[in-house]
Amino acid sequence: MPQKRVVLKNCGIIDPRQIATYLQQDGFKAWQKVSTEMTPEQVIEEVKTSGLRGRGGAGFPCWLKWDLARKSPGIEKYVICNADEGEMGTFKDKYILGNDPFSLIEGIAIAAYAVGARQSFIYLRAEYHYLLDLLQQAIKQVEAKGFLKHVKIDIRLGAGAYVCGEESALMDSIEGKRGEARYRPPFPTTEGLWQKPTTINNVETLMNIPQIILNGASWFNQIGTERSKGTKVFSVSGDVAKPGVYELVLGTPLRELVVDLAAGEKIKAVQVGGSAGRIVPYDKIDTPLSFETVLGSGAVIVLNESRDIVNAVYKSLEFLAEESCGKCAPCREGTKAIVGIMEKFSKGEGSERDIKLLEQLSSALPLSSLCGLGQAAPFPVMDSLQYFKDSYQSRIKEKKVGVVK
Ligand SMILES: Cc1cc2nc3c(=O)[nH]c(=O)nc-3n(C[C@H](O)[C@H](O)[C@H](O)COP(=O)(O)O)c2cc1C
Repeated sequence: MPQKRVVLKNCGIIDPRQIATYLQQDGFKAWQKVSTEMTPEQVIEEVKTSGLRGRGGAGFPCWLKWDLARKSPGIEKYVICNADEGEMGTFKDKYILGNDPFSLIEGIAIAAYAVGARQSFIYLRAEYHYLLDLLQQAIKQVEAKGFLKHVKIDIRLGAGAYVCGEESALMDSIEGKRGEARYRPPFPTTEGLWQKPTTINNVETLMNIPQIILNGASWFNQIGTERSKGTKVFSVSGDVAKPGVYELVLGTPLRELVVDLAAGEKIKAVQVGGSAGRIVPYDKIDTPLSFETVLGSGAVIVLNESRDIVNAVYKSLEFLAEESCGKCAPCREGTKAIVGIMEKFSKGEGSERDIKLLEQLSSALPLSSLCGLGQAAPFPVMDSLQYFKDSYQSRIKEKKVGVVK
């Protein structure tokens, strides 16, 4: 199946510095419809019918967050757009922000109306500072057209830590604190930013909103699989001839993305979802990309036959251990312990007992870690042990020392 452009509809078509070019593509028609014909409850109902789930990794139903925040008592509420994009191998939000900031702003305007928020923040990855001026100019142009009378949008530059993309750490960071995951409950929809009801959505999630309002929830609901509606934007990198950003209908087989579109050859495995993503071996390359199977943030890293899976997992875990905020012991100590064992394998010093230890740690971390970082960190370890155990065992037998590629 070819690509389907819903989120990326305007990328490469409009001039991101000229609102006039966005208005020519039906820009802000969804907002006009919402502000003149719909109540906030009707907007939430439309998003519910669409089946839209969050694109930041966890796949939480978008409407439910909005509904909970709307119903939470208080006048002061916040809508946050998560543009931190710190996941290894993810660069789709950067592409979206740089090519179509107006759709995002329209999505935020609608979200704020639905939730009842008068202040919104875009939390922008620090390394994307060069996009700051473009985004600020876009907000100014939208304000000048009178589309943002109900909400003020400000941009906060990220703190440069992967964990600050995690929603509770992100709120700490906006509040000026060191970004660390919070205990939940309370959830952000009741006590979020400055203890006020808050919704946090990924860039791509919010980009879908104007299209859902304009084309109708039933149009959106017909795209995708039973539990994964719409499209997904993927960032493809690694051993492919055509790395880049691709948008596909949810449920499309992984093969179509990495072989047909990105031109990967002699593939050994694909890591879907970034550093803590799932490892899909080549014999499962027809796995559909959906919330029911594998998805995450949309990072797709292709490893060809020359790659060593043990070393690839080692590098992923090194990153995660380095980025752990350290607040909870399972993640702080557990990721470090896994790295220590993986290092032994990379030096040709691993043993069968180490495999057992890896298995034990991998089953403990998801149950005991405070946030998604520690909960998901063992996924690549578990998958590599399931599909590539022979790579570990041959290192034990041959005392093989790994070359990190
Ligand atoms: C360590 C970690 C990093 C994360 N980084 C991001 C990120 O950069 N962008 C993002 O949208 N979500 C990220 N998330 C997920 C957020 O916590 C949250 O689920 C998401 O922003 C909610 O938006 P959505 O419902 O639209 O997906 C991260 C989660 C974890 C555990």
